Amino acid sequence: MTGTEPAVRIDTTRPHPARVYDWYLGGKDNYPVDEALGRQIMAIDTGAPRAARSNRWFMQRATRHLAGATGIRQFLDIGTGIPTEPNLHQIAQSFAPDARVVYVDNDPIVLAHAEALLRGTPEGVTEYVQADAREPGAILEQAARVLDFERPIALSLIALLHFVADEDGAYDLVDTLVEALAPGSCLVLSCMTADFEPENVRQGIERYSAGGVTLVARSHAEVGGFFRGLDLMEPGIVSVKDWRPDLARDESPLGDGPVSLYGAVGVKY
Ligand SMILES: C[S@@+](CC[C@H](N)C(=O)[O-])C[C@H]1O[C@@H](n2cnc3c(N)ncnc32)[C@H](O)[C@@H]1O
Repeated sequence: MTGTEPAVRIDTTRPHPARVYDWYLGGKDNYPVDEALGRQIMAIDTGAPRAARSNRWFMQRATRHLAGATGIRQFLDIGTGIPTEPNLHQIAQSFAPDARVVYVDNDPIVLAHAEALLRGTPEGVTEYVQADAREPGAILEQAARVLDFERPIALSLIALLHFVADEDGAYDLVDTLVEALAPGSCLVLSCMTADFEPENVRQGIERYSAGGVTLVARSHAEVGGFFRGLDLMEPGIVSVKDWRPDLARDESPLGDGPVSLYGAVGVKY
């Protein structure tokens, strides 16, 4: 593991995005304060756990497509989250055992669980970097120890950018990262939107703010702004549940209702 590697200090007095998400996914790596916020959000929007699952499946489908049909062998996943099987490297390395994967997150609890992210194939490489997405230069420097930036890389920013406000450099960080990628690389991104359920999402954002967590919903056009200069793969920017459902494996029925996260994959030429 690389990065600043501080002694792991986990603040259990305030909710953390990674742990609330883990609670939605039915994980065990969360605390009462995370469950409390999760339950508050569910009181407004019963679909929140569905959205978390749907987003996770989007990551799985996109990774299958990129490691499979597209043939990408290098992955840089920023905002990795607490490990939940199958993790990205397990999917990528099931197509290509020699796939190289760098995971990045800034939450100490993800660092505390990072070992599960490092159990890959003997032929491949998995690395974990503790870093903040708002410092893309530092991430690129550390990722370059494992990944070859002269060759295509799949950069994934999945359910990350709604935690980064525009004024904290959300668009600039994406531009800096994409700029460093070779032609043939891809950007995989999902981000919360208020386009489908404006009132529920507005109330959810209020609850997260009260818990001290920044959350930003972005419109279709605003999500499109992250893909400036890239070619979007079909079907473009859609709710994560509607991105290439033909690639689904072991997805249980989600039920009706919108999923308030846009997802898309763009290619750099
Ligand atoms: C909702 S989880 C998404 C996990 C995974 N990408 C997925 O979609 O299943 C968001 C993750 O982003 C991380 N995160 C939030 N802000 C971050 C930042 N500024 N730098 C790095 N990671 C961040 C959180 O710690 C959390 O693990």
